[in-house]
Amino acid sequence: MNKQRVYIFDTTLRDGEQVPGCKLDKEQKIKIARKLDELGVDVIEAGFPVSSPGDFDAVQAIAKEVKNATVCGLTRAVKNDIEVAAQALKQAKKPRIHTGIGTSDSHIKYKFNASKEEIIERAVEAVSYAKTFVDDVEFYAEDAGRTDNEFLAQVCTEVVRAGATVLNIPDTTGYCLPEEYGAKIKYLSEHVVGIEKAVLSCHCHNDLGLATANAISGVVNGARQIECTINGIGERAGNTALEEVVMILRQHPYLNLETKIDSKLLNEVSRLVSDTMGMMVQPNKAIVGANAFAHSSGIHQDGVIKNRATYEIINPEDVGVNASSIVLTARSGRAALAYRAKNIGYELTKLQLDTVYQEFLRVADRKKQVENDDIHRIIEHCKIGIAL
Ligand code: KIV
Ligand code: ZN
Repeated sequence: MNKQRVYIFDTTLRDGEQVPGCKLDKEQKIKIARKLDELGVDVIEAGFPVSSPGDFDAVQAIAKEVKNATVCGLTRAVKNDIEVAAQALKQAKKPRIHTGIGTSDSHIKYKFNASKEEIIERAVEAVSYAKTFVDDVEFYAEDAGRTDNEFLAQVCTEVVRAGATVLNIPDTTGYCLPEEYGAKIKYLSEHVVGIEKAVLSCHCHNDLGLATANAISGVVNGARQIECTINGIGERAGNTALEEVVMILRQHPYLNLETKIDSKLLNEVSRLVSDTMGMMVQPNKAIVGANAFAHSSGIHQDGVIKNRATYEIINPEDVGVNASSIVLTARSGRAALAYRAKNIGYELTKLQLDTVYQEFLRVADRKKQVENDDIHRIIEHCKIGIAL
C-alpha cells in the first residue's frame, strides 16, 4: 500500500527563535535555512517579517537563497503585516503567507474584545488579502486547542472558501490530551466544508510534555502537515520536535505515513541549531541527546553486547550517530568491562576479569564515569600480566 505523505513545516527560525536568548542574526538564519533545505523539510517558516527590520531582511535573504522548500512568513490578521510579509517573500520560488487570529473564548474576549462574527470577518479578510499576493496561504486559528470545535469548523469553512490552502490548528498553550487533539482534527476533517481543498496542520506546544504525542495523534486522525522545530525549541516549554515525529513515523511503518526527511542529517542539524542558538540539548533528549544511544546499566549493556536489538529500537546510523556507546559506571557489569577492555586491546580471561572487575568497582564508585585511561590504569594496577 502506498504511504501517504506528511509534510514537515519547520518553524525553528520563527517559533524557535522566539525563545529568550535564541535570537539569530541574518547570516545565522541563512546558514540554518540552508541546512533545513538539505534535510528535506517541505516548508521553512523563516520569520515574522513585520516584527523588525532585521527579521524582514533575514526572511528576504532566505526567500532568495532556499532552493527546494516553500518559504513562509508569519503575520497577524493585519493588512500591513501581510503586505510586509509579501514583500519579504517576493523572491521565493515557493512563497507562503501564514496568517491568522485567535479563536478561543479567552482570545476573543481578552485579546480582541470582539464577537465571534467579527473574528470570522477578520480571518476571511486576512486570507483574502494574502491571496492577492500569493497562491499558498496558511491560516492559523490561534489557541485552537481550547476553541470549541463547532466554532472552529465554522471559521475553517469560511477561510477555506476565501482560499486558504492549509489550516493550522495550533494547541498554542499545550493544553490538549492526545485523544482530544486527535478528535479535534477528525471533527474538522468531517465538518469543514471544502476540506478537500486544504491540508490540516498540527502545531502543538509542549507545556504538558505532550507536543509530539499530540502531533502524532493529529496525523493519525487526518492531518497531513506537522509544524515542528529542531530539538523541540519554541515558546515556553517548546514545540513538537522534528526529529521525534520523523523517527516515530519511520519506526511505525504500519501507520502508512512518511516524510521526505533525510534522517541521517538529524544529529548534524541538531548540533548546528544548538551551537548557533547557544541552547544546549538535554542529554536524555530523544533521538539527538548525548545519551540517546548510550547504555549504562549492567543489564542493558549485557543485552546490547549480545544483540543490539535487545535495547535499541533505532539504528544510531539512521540518525547520523556513528555507533551506540557502552558507558562504564558503577552500575556496569563484567560484560561491559570486558567489551570496553577488548576495544582498547585487552583480551581478559574469566579469572583476570574477576580481579579487574573488583578494582574497576572501586574506581567507579569514586568517579561518575570510567574512561579508557582508567581501564589502562586499573589493569596496570592489578598487575595480572595481560599483554596489549
Ligand atoms: O502557537 C501558536 O499558536 C503559533 C501561531 C502563531 C501559529 O505559533
Ligand atoms: Zn507556536
